Amino acid sequence: MRRHFVAVAETTHDEFERILELARQPVPSNDLAGTRVSLVFERPSLRTRASSVAAVQDLGGNYSMFTDAEIGLDTREAAEDVARTLAQTSTIVAARVRDHQVFSRMRSATGDAVSYINLLSDQTHPTQATADVLTLADHFSDGDPLGLAGRTVTYVGDATNVTRSLATALIGFGVTVRIVAPVGYDLSSDQCAVIEARARYGGQLQCFTDPTAAVPGSDALYTDSWISMGLEHEAEERRRVFRGFQIDESLFDLAPTSVFLHCLPAHRGEEVSHDVMESPRSLVWQQVRHRTTAMYGVLRWLEEK
Ligand code: CP
Ligand code: NVA
Repeated sequence: MRRHFVAVAETTHDEFERILELARQPVPSNDLAGTRVSLVFERPSLRTRASSVAAVQDLGGNYSMFTDAEIGLDTREAAEDVARTLAQTSTIVAARVRDHQVFSRMRSATGDAVSYINLLSDQTHPTQATADVLTLADHFSDGDPLGLAGRTVTYVGDATNVTRSLATALIGFGVTVRIVAPVGYDLSSDQCAVIEARARYGGQLQCFTDPTAAVPGSDALYTDSWISMGLEHEAEERRRVFRGFQIDESLFDLAPTSVFLHCLPAHRGEEVSHDVMESPRSLVWQQVRHRTTAMYGVLRWLEEK
């Protein structure tokens, strides 16, 4: 049976730990020698695209890149037919998609011929969360994710695809995950249940609506765009709703030893201030570096015999 990495919640805790372990193994290597990877981007990307290419090359594999303008998933051609076509040349398809459900349709179409990696969907961003755990483990526990137990990570802003993957990943390592979001932009009870089902080592999910109540006592603050891809038509309303949720110096200093994380791209003056982005307590460039490390782990785990 081929493995897939489409959501943190669809791996077991032990599988996710193994991905983190494989991520740290030395490069360059030949772990992907003879393997072709199709990289599909239905939405724009800088970090995910760059790190995916770098990781495939560092592991000795080959890749082909396709944008939405070229393949037109469900516009030029049905997603199932795109998947069957890619299966003729690739054993791994890594895709950034608008609609998460496309993964199950593509998987059904290609059976056991292809492994899928989710490079961001409207629901989840699991390779980002993998990089985030690597970054936090480096900072707090000499690289050991199990050493994160007892830490508190507070996500401030829109409860996005990134938030859900981050919370699911961290709660499994005993982290208290706080999410502070305006009502209506928070997690649904079903989404909370998926995250809480993953809790281990005393990890907890705590939800807030007031940033000044959520931040004190945090070890790390995390945010993402207020206007995720595809929500541009809500931009004006969202800027109004999220006023008061910016991570600026005064909010950051309510947790004076905390570090700052952001998946990027950042919008200085919206979800984060320029000074917080540039602060010595900001780990955003370590996160970007670990996007490639994370991909080493995911790709190796898919190919592990
Ligand atoms: N964080 C992230 O996924 O960045 P890109 O959208 O640039 O790939
Ligand atoms: N929530 C953002 C993440 C970008 C990396 C989006 O989906 O656009």
